Amino acid sequence: MSLRPELFRYLREFLLHKSGLVLDDSKLYLIRSRVQALLRNFEISDMDALAQQIKRDENSKLAHHFLDAMTTNETLFFRDTYPFEALKTLVFPELIHVGNGHGNIKIWSAASSKGQEPYSIAMTASETVPMADKRVSILGTDLSESAIAYAREAKYSQMEVQRGMPVKQLVRFFTQEGLDWFVCDELKEMLTFQNGNLVNDALVSQVRRFGPFDIVFCRNVLIYFSPEERMNVIDRLAKTMKKGGYLFTGATEIPEGHYSKWECVMFKGKRLWKLL
Ligand SMILES: C[S@@+](CC[C@H](N)C(=O)[O-])C[C@H]1O[C@@H](n2cnc3c(N)ncnc32)[C@H](O)[C@@H]1O
Repeated sequence: MSLRPELFRYLREFLLHKSGLVLDDSKLYLIRSRVQALLRNFEISDMDALAQQIKRDENSKLAHHFLDAMTTNETLFFRDTYPFEALKTLVFPELIHVGNGHGNIKIWSAASSKGQEPYSIAMTASETVPMADKRVSILGTDLSESAIAYAREAKYSQMEVQRGMPVKQLVRFFTQEGLDWFVCDELKEMLTFQNGNLVNDALVSQVRRFGPFDIVFCRNVLIYFSPEERMNVIDRLAKTMKKGGYLFTGATEIPEGHYSKWECVMFKGKRLWKLL
């Protein structure tokens, strides 16, 4: 299905401007494969017509759905293991004593996708922090409205819970109904989900009432942004955090040479970032 070069350039710019996501020339196939359902649902004849309709109204429902379709929501419970070990053995033990053992611990999962990451944080908190249900609050935000709706529903398939979830946590924190697994209320009560765009300055004020954060997860999303945009995002996150707060990114997501605001803390050979 064709897309005129100037309309491909337009869609690429639109995506970059609205979401920070970088598509190079070789990624036309990605747009093509991701928008098939959109074309059907909105009864649009082809890719040229899709681009023209978005261009006419960049705030339309169609434009939002296009952005949503272009996000990669791949995620799993306890992804990469080490962040959750670090929470358990390093970060929570430091925070547990705040406010004589009664202080609040505020956490933000800033690209929470379908919820597996923030629910994994909640399970870890529940197993490590005394009275976690009273003391720990977790905000999950994502650009993708469909991912946020999914996370709010807190319902996962057998396949999803099999990816990364130890049986012990599955049995303790989920109930099974038919083929689906539902997150228990104890965890759900710690969580709030909202739509949120990392490349928008308004995000800082949007999340203010949930912070300042002790811990921010921004994992496996910065890789989709340009090096400059990654630094803008990290500066934005820093504005929402407490001094001494921990930032978790993917292993290689912070470009070299931009570490001035952060102390690098090594945990099992992986980098965590502590706000100075
Ligand atoms: C690959 S998933 C990673 C999810 C989770 N953090 C993890 O590590 O498993 C990337 C997520 O980033 C979200 N995303 C992409 N661009 C974004 C933006 N500008 N603002 C907020 N979220 C964004 C996508 O919608 C997607 O859910």
